[in-house]
Amino acid sequence: EGCVLVGAPVQSGTDRLGCDMGPSAYRAAGLGQAIRDLGIAVEDAGTVAPTPFAVRPHPNPAVHHLAETAGWTLALTEAAYRHSEAARPIFLGGDHSLSAGTVAGMSLRARAEGRPLFLLWLDAHADLHTLDTTTSGNLHGVPLAYLTGRPGFAGYFPPLDAGLDPARICMIGLRSVDPAERALLAGSGTRVHDMRDIDETGIVAPLRDFLGEVAAADGLLHVSLDVDFLDPGIAPGVGTTVPGGATFREAHLIMELLHDSGLVRSLDLVELNPFLDERGRTALLMADLAASLFGRRILDRPTRSF
Ligand code: ARG
Ligand code: MN
Ligand code: MN
Ligand code: MN
Repeated sequence: EGCVLVGAPVQSGTDRLGCDMGPSAYRAAGLGQAIRDLGIAVEDAGTVAPTPFAVRPHPNPAVHHLAETAGWTLALTEAAYRHSEAARPIFLGGDHSLSAGTVAGMSLRARAEGRPLFLLWLDAHADLHTLDTTTSGNLHGVPLAYLTGRPGFAGYFPPLDAGLDPARICMIGLRSVDPAERALLAGSGTRVHDMRDIDETGIVAPLRDFLGEVAAADGLLHVSLDVDFLDPGIAPGVGTTVPGGATFREAHLIMELLHDSGLVRSLDLVELNPFLDERGRTALLMADLAASLFGRRILDRPTRSF
């Protein structure tokens, strides 16, 4: 099955400009060719534009760029559904608010196939604020609350046609969680592996366990990779660096295990800010990680089943 690149130059979810250059940076980093080199057909579908979406002002005065972000959500829901019919989409972000759309669209795709959608969230953050709890007002901090049907989005974001069961989400890499998010995570059923877990047990066991569940349910897996999942020392091109992130080797190992599972249907590459990058190194690393997910490997090895 081929792969399709979908540009999503969203930056309305942050208070810092530059994420709109993300899709160009991935193209300049040779992402498409890296995947073609694996023998996979790659189509570049170009760049999505937001659909106009009118909303009234939100009572939380911190919230900003609401209409624009809602418009992106609407456009990307449709784009994700459409582009995932015959290929595996890679969404070139764009800040993490774009996942409100891409995951909603993949959720429609899963429903159309009569299969459950699972989500792997690789991020320093939980991105689980509601419009009422966010204090930064940056909407890249809210996609998971929207997608799991938390209250307070009606009338401000597009109606969520097919949501996501929090018990089908696995988060790896957390190290910056706000009190309101911590409260929402508790008892949600979401699998949460913070950096302490990774330090104690490594990433292989929790990931294998989650992939086993996806395989047993014949699920579709969407992977959302936030640049700040990675340690800032290897991935400086992001506005929300948090020390103590995943290493180069941990990140590649995750991608290799994901490839071997054969379960990944779609991928978000989010939060790259090329204005903050150093000679493209973060864009190149993200492109290399995507290549590992699509099958680049050091040596051939027998594929383990999940
Ligand atoms: N929790 C913080 C906030 O809501 C940080 C969110 C960072 N999210 C991201 N996608 N980088 O402002
Ligand atoms: Mn602004
Ligand atoms: Mn994020
Ligand atoms: Mn993050």
